[in-house]
Amino acid sequence: MSTILILNGPNLNLLGQREPSTYGSGTLADLETLCVETGRSLNLMVECHQSNHEGALLDHLHAAGARYRLGSLLGIVLNAGAFSHTSIALHDAIKGISPTPVIEVHLSNVHARETFRHHSWISPVAAGIIIGLGFESYRLAIYSLAEKAKKTQKL
Ligand code: DQA
Repeated sequence: MSTILILNGPNLNLLGQREPSTYGSGTLADLETLCVETGRSLNLMVECHQSNHEGALLDHLHAAGARYRLGSLLGIVLNAGAFSHTSIALHDAIKGISPTPVIEVHLSNVHARETFRHHSWISPVAAGIIIGLGFESYRLAIYSLAEKAKKTQKL
C-alpha cells in the first residue's frame, strides 16, 4: 500500500500543553490519529514521526527520498517547527531528495506572529504550503499528496 510520511519537528511533542491558545488543545497523538484516519479514508498508509533533533529529521527525509524513488512513498507532510525558520540543512535535504514532494505545514498562521517566523527555509523548496489551519493543515496536505499521486499515476 502507498505511504505518506508525516514528519513533525521540535516541540510538537508538547502539543496539548504547549501554548494552547496558539496551537489548540489536541495532543500529538490526536494529530497522528487524525492523519492515519485521513489516510485510511483514501486507502493510504500514513506513517508518523516526531523528533526534536535536526539531524534525525534529515535522516528521515533522506530515507523517505529513497522510498519515493522506489515507488513506495507518495510524499511527505513536514512541520519543521522552529527549524523552518533556521535550517538551511533541511532546505538542502528537501532539494537533495527532489522530486519527492514535501508539503510544508504549520498549525498557526506564522505570518500573523513574530517577524522571525515570517521567513521559512522550507517554503522555497516545498511542493506546497498550508499554514494556519490547525490540524486541518495536515488533513489538506494528505489530500493534496494523494491528488498529486493520482495525476502522476502513482496511485
Ligand atoms: C509551528 C510554527 C513555528 O514558528 C513554531 O516554532 C512551531 C510550530 C506551527 O505549526 O505553527 O514550533 O511550526
